[in-house]
Amino acid sequence: MPLQVIVGAQWGDEGKGRIVDWFAAQADFSARFNGGDNAGHTVTVGSRIFKLHLIPSGIIHPQIVAILGNGMVINPSTLFDEMDLLNQAGISVSPERLRLSYAAHLITPAHQALDKALEASRGKGNIGTTGRGIGPAYTDKAARRGLRLADTLAPNFCERLHNHVVDANRILGMLGAPELDPAPVCEHYQEYAARLKPHIADTSLELHAALQAGKTILAEGAQGTLLDIDFGTYPFVTSSSTTAPGALIGLGLGLVAAEVARGIGVVKAFQTRVGSGPFPTEVFDDLALRLRGTGEHPWDEYGTTTGRPRRVGWLDGVLLRYAVRINGISELAVTKLDILSGLENIQLCTAYRCDGKLFTDLPFGPADLSPYEPVYEQLPGWKENVSAVRTWAGLPLAAKAYLERMTSLAGVPVRLVSVGPEREQIVNRQ
Ligand code: IMP
Repeated sequence: MPLQVIVGAQWGDEGKGRIVDWFAAQADFSARFNGGDNAGHTVTVGSRIFKLHLIPSGIIHPQIVAILGNGMVINPSTLFDEMDLLNQAGISVSPERLRLSYAAHLITPAHQALDKALEASRGKGNIGTTGRGIGPAYTDKAARRGLRLADTLAPNFCERLHNHVVDANRILGMLGAPELDPAPVCEHYQEYAARLKPHIADTSLELHAALQAGKTILAEGAQGTLLDIDFGTYPFVTSSSTTAPGALIGLGLGLVAAEVARGIGVVKAFQTRVGSGPFPTEVFDDLALRLRGTGEHPWDEYGTTTGRPRRVGWLDGVLLRYAVRINGISELAVTKLDILSGLENIQLCTAYRCDGKLFTDLPFGPADLSPYEPVYEQLPGWKENVSAVRTWAGLPLAAKAYLERMTSLAGVPVRLVSVGPEREQIVNRQ
């Protein structure tokens, strides 16, 4: 399909970077459509590990043009750090290869300060944000006072930025947080503006032209379905549309593109979450440590952006089925199957119970999961190390049974299975 949309089917950190990397080998464009540097994509190529927060991970492939779409909020400081890192690794980030939508919004130090101050003011009820200024930047966008990349080219940019910091200071003052001096912010952002300029474009136009010319686009979702502003575990969500249809808006693609699109849902073989909010299948103690890892490996369950230990649990089939519906996912890519090797039994949540009734769909979505108790099906585990397996036939019988059960709960097939952190450690079922 000309448009492949890769989205997380859980609470983010599903290992989308790996799967994007696999599809990117065949694509012409790699585009991000939501979020900002709250995301963290890790791609391992040989001994090199790339941790990218803003630039689509497809950029690692030399034929790719990378797009940061209009649905994003961009912190230029992070962007330039990543550009420098990639340049040093010999990966070009020239204006021809890295295109930024004129309509994407800027993140400023005032947004970051507000994010932290608002979180502190929420006390125990905090969301557990990444502190990157994501919520306040989208708040400004919705309030129609945000600064877009195109604004950096206007003669009054500095004045608008100054006013933005002064406005933010009023709220920071009310929250009892330190205020910011607008002068250095304006100075830095004027320098940033000059460096951003050659990259700023009408990326919607460029992507439409690409589709018409028969090129293929990989849309990289950040975070996951259950963190979506509309469909996630609200209010414990991020502030953008993380789901596959969000790619059409966040890239300016329109409905014609939907006719040539395919949604690929990335799902970890178990469940993880960072930050606060409901997590019905969460586990604790020894089992949690077993699933999370100790933190000594880059693939252990610690946040790429914040370093926080992730909460872990058994796979939630009810929420997976929900994610398939909301996104229009047609196939699944299952990651980290290797982590389950060696467990005697595996629990899989197949339904929720509430007041003696069973639910496989939720009457009001996943926002309030407190009345529900997960109903588990126990499947036998497998002892074999699967990290060298490259074919479906080569997987242990119990692993295949687990993946088949996942398929029957989700209602769509498993196409890819990752069995280790390296690029080639993938089983393609097709
Ligand atoms: P924010 O996006 O920084 O506002 O954070 C809102 C919620 O989304 C918090 O629970 C974060 O931990 C979570 N979150 C944001 N980005 C990611 C991500 O890339 N992976 C996993 N969780 C994320």
